[in-house]
Amino acid sequence: MKRRLFVTTALPYANGRPHIGHIMEYIQADIWVRFQKMRGHEVYFVCAEDAHGAPIMIAAESAGKTPRQFIDEMRDARQQYLDGFNIAFDHWHTTDSPENVELSLSIYSALKANDFISTRTIEQFFDPVKGMFLPDRYIKGTCPVCGAKDQYGDNCEVCGSTYAPTDLIDPYSVLTGARPELKSSEHFFFRLSDPRCVNFLREWTTQTNRHGEPRLQPEVYAKTQEWLGTAGKGLADWDISRDAPYFGIPIPDAPGKYFYTWFDAPIGYLASLNAYFDQGKARANGELRSFDEFLAADDVEQIHFIGKDIIYFHTLFWPAMLKSSGRKVPDSIYVHGFLTLNAEKLSKSRGISIDPLRYLEVGMNPEWFRYFVAAKLNGRVEDIDFNPDDFMLRVNSDLIGKYVNIASRAASFIGKHFDGQLAYRDERSLLDAARATSTLVAEAIEAREFGKALRDVMAAADRINEAFDAAEPWKLAKEPARHADLQHICSSALHGFKVLSVCLAPVLPATAQRIAREFFGLDRDFVWSDADSLPLHITPYKHLMTRVDAKQLDALFESPAAPAEAPPLPGGVAISDAITIDEFSKIDFRIAKIVDAGYVEGSDKLLRLTLDAGEGRHRNVFSGIKSAYAPEDLVGKLTVLVANLAPRKMKFGVSEGMVLAASHGDEKQHPGIYLLDPHTGAQPGMRVK
Ligand code: 2FM
Ligand code: ZN
Repeated sequence: MKRRLFVTTALPYANGRPHIGHIMEYIQADIWVRFQKMRGHEVYFVCAEDAHGAPIMIAAESAGKTPRQFIDEMRDARQQYLDGFNIAFDHWHTTDSPENVELSLSIYSALKANDFISTRTIEQFFDPVKGMFLPDRYIKGTCPVCGAKDQYGDNCEVCGSTYAPTDLIDPYSVLTGARPELKSSEHFFFRLSDPRCVNFLREWTTQTNRHGEPRLQPEVYAKTQEWLGTAGKGLADWDISRDAPYFGIPIPDAPGKYFYTWFDAPIGYLASLNAYFDQGKARANGELRSFDEFLAADDVEQIHFIGKDIIYFHTLFWPAMLKSSGRKVPDSIYVHGFLTLNAEKLSKSRGISIDPLRYLEVGMNPEWFRYFVAAKLNGRVEDIDFNPDDFMLRVNSDLIGKYVNIASRAASFIGKHFDGQLAYRDERSLLDAARATSTLVAEAIEAREFGKALRDVMAAADRINEAFDAAEPWKLAKEPARHADLQHICSSALHGFKVLSVCLAPVLPATAQRIAREFFGLDRDFVWSDADSLPLHITPYKHLMTRVDAKQLDALFESPAAPAEAPPLPGGVAISDAITIDEFSKIDFRIAKIVDAGYVEGSDKLLRLTLDAGEGRHRNVFSGIKSAYAPEDLVGKLTVLVANLAPRKMKFGVSEGMVLAASHGDEKQHPGIYLLDPHTGAQPGMRVK
């Protein structure tokens, strides 16, 4: 039966470049989607920029751009990551699009008509200098539990407590440093606590999907039941409005009120699909599809791939919004864990990560990463760990040593002695064995048990290699009388190689494409049923994939040359060796505002600086300037930041860059450190060159 599938990944915020965690999610979904397409199903795989919200508005403002310009640039920049990792969305849209405005308004008006919207006045922190209500992440202060300074408005990174921003001691706005004031304002709520929502969610979370499988993974299901609580308790109404200034969709008949970005973001899934259909790209059997019909059709399966941090939104808010506005609800939510690096959590805010572009720049093959990620993924919500040794082992020993080698070994005999022609004995048993392998692998990929699928592939590769070695083809090649045996054993191995290439095609699309077209001479890419036929000839083997070189991994994780604790710029010493303008321009100097500064407990050299370099987030930088400055004298000043210095883990935390300061080469004789201070008019985020 031909399935019709509408598949998405979470919409990334438009104020940040893709993180390796995003890439992992896209790869997971891309593998699954490619597999479904290879099986002949009709699949639409879409995503979009999550464009709205205060952080994007602020980031655009400090970059001196309109949000629209800012988002368009981000969308363009994203393409090189997607292309680089062979991730093939059918369409990439944005939530600040006419399609999303129209759908959001239509869903909102249906919710209103069905009595799911209420209003209530609430009190929130307001920045009197900036003139705006502050989201929790823009409020910092002293932790009310442990007394740690500079903690976020909702939780303390030192002691782990959670609290309300109003509980902070000495709260301040991270935007201006001002003390926030409590101010009241009317907000719009989606009445999630309504028994109609609660009853629906109980049913929806518990039901199996159309294939008789649980709609949610067991651990996700357990979470939802915890949230749903007993007897309708547990769900609170959801605040879906924000006050101006805000970059978002204006709420009708409510001047100065906008939809909270999380309200219109999931609607962006539908908007992206809508835009794709409207471009006339959605066709089945040559027939143009209508978006409304497709979306509402019973047989269409709607599937969202997401990370474990946004389960609440996708298993409660989103299905309830759809149901309560009279629309079709999602079929399944597929949740994955985080990617860790040597078992440490990778984090955007801390800057410790594998940089996806760096990965590509140092010449690492994207298909290695896809293979590694697939080898680690299963259908559960588990974190997966990137460990460089493990990465090398899997790619070099398994992928290349076991799989690629089959082709290179067998093809040389077939080329040399048989002019590329393959011949078989026992066709039936070869086809049966192939079918057994491809069926096992298909079941595993379908269930997102990619690790199991690859273990099955490697077990088959082992069997093929063992049979090949046992026949000792290098001996057969020397005995003309036994050349029929030689052709048979090599053909069997190459048939096996083709079957495994079909199985691996969703994971290694570029490699599989070359194998299909160049090696086996097809005029198209593999489809799944190609595993059911015997190839009749091959072209001479061309090198398919190189091994990972440890040097590439070193380059990927290269640590910065200059430690942040070292004295800043030398003076009274010889000028350093010449560098080229290209070398110089690799350093990204930015104007940064010191929004906060403090002492570092246990360090007699360092100050901790909180910097705004116009990115819509703040950076933590340790600087060896304690002997020269009192923290309170620095707050509010501008300085120059080396913004692309790789983050460096220090005893006291992570330093995300370096500020520039002048000092004499011989600091003992000539003490004094002088921070660079730009002339009036410079703004945070401006480039210095
Ligand atoms: O957590 C995030 O990165 C959000 N931008 C995800 C949105 S997913 C969907 F709802 F759009
Ligand atoms: Zn604390």
